[in-house]
Amino acid sequence: MRHKTIIEPFRIKTVEPIKMNSEEERCRLLREAHYNPFLLNSDDVIIDFLTDSGTSAMSAEQWGGMQIGDESYAGSRSWKRMEKAVRNLTGMDYILPTHQGRAAERILYSTIGGPGKVFVSNTHFDTTRANIEFREAEAIDLPTPFAKDMSSDYPFKGNIDLDQLSKTIDEKGVDNIAGIIMTVTNNSGGGQPVSMENLKQVRKICDSYNIPLILDCCRVAENSYFIKHREKEYNDYAYEEIAKKIFELSDAAIMSSKKDALVNMGGFLALRNMKLAQECTNLLIITEGFTTYGGLSGRDMEALAIGLKEVFEPAYLDYRIKSTEYLGRKLHELGVPIMLPVGGHAVYIDAKKLYSHIPVFEYPGQVLVCELYKLGGIRTVEIGSVMFGKYEDDHKLIPAPYELVRLAIPRRVYTQSHIEYVIETFEEILRRRKETIGLRIIEEPKFLRHFTAKFERLPYNNKIAEESGLE
Ligand code: F0G
Repeated sequence: MRHKTIIEPFRIKTVEPIKMNSEEERCRLLREAHYNPFLLNSDDVIIDFLTDSGTSAMSAEQWGGMQIGDESYAGSRSWKRMEKAVRNLTGMDYILPTHQGRAAERILYSTIGGPGKVFVSNTHFDTTRANIEFREAEAIDLPTPFAKDMSSDYPFKGNIDLDQLSKTIDEKGVDNIAGIIMTVTNNSGGGQPVSMENLKQVRKICDSYNIPLILDCCRVAENSYFIKHREKEYNDYAYEEIAKKIFELSDAAIMSSKKDALVNMGGFLALRNMKLAQECTNLLIITEGFTTYGGLSGRDMEALAIGLKEVFEPAYLDYRIKSTEYLGRKLHELGVPIMLPVGGHAVYIDAKKLYSHIPVFEYPGQVLVCELYKLGGIRTVEIGSVMFGKYEDDHKLIPAPYELVRLAIPRRVYTQSHIEYVIETFEEILRRRKETIGLRIIEEPKFLRHFTAKFERLPYNNKIAEESGLE
């Protein structure tokens, strides 16, 4: 028999209570957090969809592994396990442990980047871009044009635009190109997968110009799921085999293991080139830790090695992708504009379309983030002009191409009934859609402003806000 219901392929052994609160309390908390849910206490959040990063529930086996972690400074047994697991998956010789993905990014991009250098990507994740730009190199995004149409069901919207890629390399001068970064799945581009075909073509371009291909592989298991089910040639491959094929095409890999290694902290940089590995190792030791732990505890490395195996289990990946798809499909059926097809780790809402009456300079994405918290205690993140907007000299906003809100789903954490609760919250969002109003930024840092920016409701809207019970 084929069942309709997607059941979680695990039993719950330990529970973490959720503190319930009222809409009234949440209105106050939101005001105190300056309309930026990054500034909320997690205890005040009912469903935390802020990120799928470091929020996974670990398995009994991983917790068991934590007990036997070897905390030796040098030559730790747990490091050997982690190194073996990463080497086996990536096929790369030089593995550098780091405390999380951005540490690996900093090490690699400060070694091969710098002024005058250019990186090209399907889409740089925000920390990737920040690490590149911090060293005064340039980061160029070239997503496939198919990604522009949010409602099309093109199966590999995470692809890079190959024509533009060759053109950009020629325009910028091949000697200035420090690397091509393929983010799998493409997080900032909607959690969309990259096809094996696209990766193979990128490899060809890299070979013809002699440019390194760097894989940002934090969701490589989820990307492998999509390749298996959407690219005929790979239907009969195991997920892990597909992932290995992806790594085969790459010269280097950066992983934030807080995603598809099912751990709460960890990362690595994997390299094929010895000379580059030596340079990066110097920086690793100066800034992260000795080569056999990076920034990690022995117990973290133990859990990471186990997680990298568990993530490729078919029952897990099947549940993972199908449950994300379920939420996306239900929202779509309600009439919530979402990015189609649904990505691997998250559902992305098109806030510009949902709140078509709110101009981009009043941040419709951030408005939706606030509404979701207020109505359901659901914490999400804006991926739009708050995250990626820039300013012209006269401080006029240069908006991001999209105003998205990401509902990122932690791995193995929430059940079907939590998801039903989220769907119900969206029904109310739709009912209140017309009376919802904009925000403006009152304080912001120079880099990664979405983390700490403060907002206020627009003054001329205060009256409407009060009348509609929004404040
Ligand atoms: N690359 C991608 C594609 C990511 O999604 C992230 C993190 C990183 C690199 C950096 O890794 O956080 O371990 O330093 N993404 C998280 C998110 C923060 O919410 O999507 P990190």
